[in-house]
Amino acid sequence: MNMKRREAVVAAILWLATGVAGAAGPAPTCLISGKEKPASVCAAHTKTISATCFICHGPNGKSVAAIPGLAGQDKDYLVTAMREFRDGKRESTVMQKYALGYTDSEYEAIAAFFAAIK
Ligand code: HEC
Repeated sequence: MNMKRREAVVAAILWLATGVAGAAGPAPTCLISGKEKPASVCAAHTKTISATCFICHGPNGKSVAAIPGLAGQDKDYLVTAMREFRDGKRESTVMQKYALGYTDSEYEAIAAFFAAIK
């Protein structure tokens, strides 16, 4: 490939890359321990933190005992419940401790995770 042609190819690739990135808008990110992370890391983090709820609320939030299930629950309901547990507005035996372990944006991510389960 001669230099002119190579430059043209590189320019075309750059143009395409910026075009695609521009069309998709800025990639979604999240904060984990105060640091901004890319979407792929956010998704894995959401799965990990949601899995900490399985031990009591059942696998994938599908309850197998007396503790209420989380699967398919309304997203806003779940976020509100977590805030109320955290702030002590809703009585709990254990949930305040769990709610205190996560941030507001993690409540959103966890709630979306469980709300999406059929
Ligand atoms: C150690 C067991 C345990 C773990 C782990 C746990 N929960 Fe709970 N959860 C409970 C219990 C028990 C209740 C009933 C309230 C109480 O006594 O704390 C509850 C209630 C709830 C409710 C209210 C449900 C409703 O239908 O109103 C939500 C929402 C909830 N938990 C979310 C979560 C999320 C999200 C996680 C993971 C971050 C989690 N829980 C982890 C035991 C647990």
